[in-house]
Amino acid sequence: MGLHDRYRVLVVEDDPDIRRILQLFLSERDFAVTTAESATAALDALAAAPVDLILSDVRMPGMSGIELLHHIKGQDPDVQLVLMTAYSSVKDAVEAIQAGATDYIEKPIDFRRLERILDVVFERRRLRSENKILQQRLQGQVEFHGMIARSQEMLEIFSFIERLARYPTTALITGESGTGKELVARALHDLSPLRERPLVTCNCTTLAPTLLESELFGHVRGAFTGADRDRKGLFESAHGGSIFLDEIGELSPAVQAKLLRVIENREIKRVGSPEAIRIDIRIIAATNRDLDAMVETGEFREDLYYRLNVGAITLPPLRRRIEDVDLLCDHFLARLSRRLQKDVSEISEPVLQVFRTYSWPGNIRELLNVIERALIVAHGPVILPEHLPVQFFSAAPEAAALAAIPASLALAPDFDLTIQAAERDQIRKALEAAGGKRMEAARLLGLSRRTLYRKLEKYGIS
Ligand SMILES: Nc1ncnc2c1ncn2[C@@H]1O[C@H](COP(=O)(O)OP(=O)(O)OP(=O)(O)O)[C@@H](O)[C@H]1O
Ligand SMILES: [Mg+2]
Repeated sequence: MGLHDRYRVLVVEDDPDIRRILQLFLSERDFAVTTAESATAALDALAAAPVDLILSDVRMPGMSGIELLHHIKGQDPDVQLVLMTAYSSVKDAVEAIQAGATDYIEKPIDFRRLERILDVVFERRRLRSENKILQQRLQGQVEFHGMIARSQEMLEIFSFIERLARYPTTALITGESGTGKELVARALHDLSPLRERPLVTCNCTTLAPTLLESELFGHVRGAFTGADRDRKGLFESAHGGSIFLDEIGELSPAVQAKLLRVIENREIKRVGSPEAIRIDIRIIAATNRDLDAMVETGEFREDLYYRLNVGAITLPPLRRRIEDVDLLCDHFLARLSRRLQKDVSEISEPVLQVFRTYSWPGNIRELLNVIERALIVAHGPVILPEHLPVQFFSAAPEAAALAAIPASLALAPDFDLTIQAAERDQIRKALEAAGGKRMEAARLLGLSRRTLYRKLEKYGIS
């Protein structure tokens, strides 16, 4: 999953040879390595993207490794920093650890010792994130900025969102329709240092390409027919804050090229104007399309994809986090019954069972809609299978049995009747027609006596 795949290490070292050796050593161990030749360069790199571990020299021209450590701890307390020094002294070591360094290694570097340090750092990191998740679970804290979850994968995503939000990095949220991409975008903004600034949303599908371009970049008077005055675009409105580009997979090649320029040069040009305007903005993008595949087919620019993918968050479909279903049900039930002023307080076990095996092509949005619909059709305090739409039963044996019912007994097809409700009615009719004799009713229905008995019990018909 995106950034969780490989740990990122930043090497800060003024000696180019040591920098190269460390880069080689770390790359071989499958870390994603970046390097900086000074502490100032390191801070620039860190402002752009998060790392998991910094391996920094202590004495460098300009800012020292210890000063760098102080800066970083103020910014992202989760970053681990290991200091390296040729002039090891107990005083330095103590100072470094007190300032929050994870460890200290002497030069010339003993690579076996470095290897052990790396093991410990990343093992600790893994345990810590597991602990955090475990704690949340014990405390039942499963709501994160409006998102409900208990699955390991989602909880990890929550803690990643928390970290990523601190950085001005471009974020790319992918996942099937209805998996919560919009909520993630909002959380990223609300947790960021820019939270007081605007979050401007643009849905890239709703407008024709040329209109979208002027919506995003603005235009000057006379740029095209109908442009009777200058107009500010969304990028300018969002200046100093974040812009959420929803459905980014729908961008035309022309707008893709312009967006790349915004990311690379931090400037825009209004349509029809040669003048570049500086833009300081955080871009959060989302799509339910497979951008990887679109890059393959040439529909999406590879360079833009890599720029966006720096902060990648992939939301799993609901069928891959079925353990979240019960929790989501409780949450939606409480929320909707309040809103619809219905006294429905429970979802019956058979319904939950169906929910746990259903494939949820529309993901959480579909679950929400299904519960809302059930609340509307339910009469009592409990949601029963008969309150679900038919697609839930299309593959079930119940449906096959129903299909075998003689047409003479079938009800007039009613659009909104669920199969279960229809079945119950048909059993009642058959019993009536058979003068209450169950054997006869079973024969009329084309069911075995046992099956009929089971259904009578299920529907509470006596
Ligand atoms: N983890 C969650 N907990 C509670 N509600 C959620 C969760 N995830 C999504 N939802 C709700 O599900 C609905 C769909 O979410 P959202 O609009 O964010 O999906 P999306 O990924 O943007 O979908 P699309 O690709 O169709 O735009 C919203 O009503 C949202 O509030
Ligand atoms: Mg959306």
